[in-house]
Amino acid sequence: MIQIAPSILSADFSLIKEELSKLEKAKVNYIHFDVMDNHFVPNLTFGSKFIKDLRKYTKIPFDVHLMIDSPDDCIDEFLDAGGDIYTFHIEAVRNVNKLANRVKAENRKFSLSVKPKTPIETILPYLDILDMILIMSVEPGFGGQSLIEETLTKISKLKNIITSKGLSIPVEIDGGVNLSTLQRVVESGADILVMGSAFFKNEDYKIFMEKVYNNIKDLKTLNQT
Ligand code: DX5
Ligand code: ZN
Repeated sequence: MIQIAPSILSADFSLIKEELSKLEKAKVNYIHFDVMDNHFVPNLTFGSKFIKDLRKYTKIPFDVHLMIDSPDDCIDEFLDAGGDIYTFHIEAVRNVNKLANRVKAENRKFSLSVKPKTPIETILPYLDILDMILIMSVEPGFGGQSLIEETLTKISKLKNIITSKGLSIPVEIDGGVNLSTLQRVVESGADILVMGSAFFKNEDYKIFMEKVYNNIKDLKTLNQT
């Protein structure tokens, strides 16, 4: 079953508590937190305190996307913030196995991400310790960008490799996912869809979630005929 992870970066931070209760009512699967440090990516968003402050208001799993340099050095504060899945960029991590052990020691999930130009081969050596893989379908740094079509081939290739190894690591797609790219995204085999601007531009998130799932259902039926 495809899952939806709204990226809270596109929400209205001045209404953040109302946003959380609307996300609860919409029954989203995750809340995606885009942490950016203005070094690894050319944008600055929020740190671990933002996540920690929101943790007490919802049980929705927190999907923490760390677009930061040297995440090995500051993982403890993000673990303390109460995330459920932690995604690190292979381009920024110093010691993957050490970081994975640290995250798993706290019973959280460990995930790696690649930028659009980074080959998936860079993360294949770590498949046996990965709980999720995040494929960037835009250059990391901002919401509201257009999906880079070539990244869909990357997802399909990765899904085939995962299946051929008898593994079942969910693949998350992140960037430019909306109702018009949805068909190609679903056909690529992505399991978890991050949606920022396409999600938060709607007044009613519950209605939008139903619209997304109806689209997916229609696509699956179409593909079976
Ligand atoms: C980009 C972030 C994405 C982005 C998604 O660096 O990792 O999560 O916020 O926003 P949309 O869905 O608008 O592309
Ligand atoms: Zn993200």
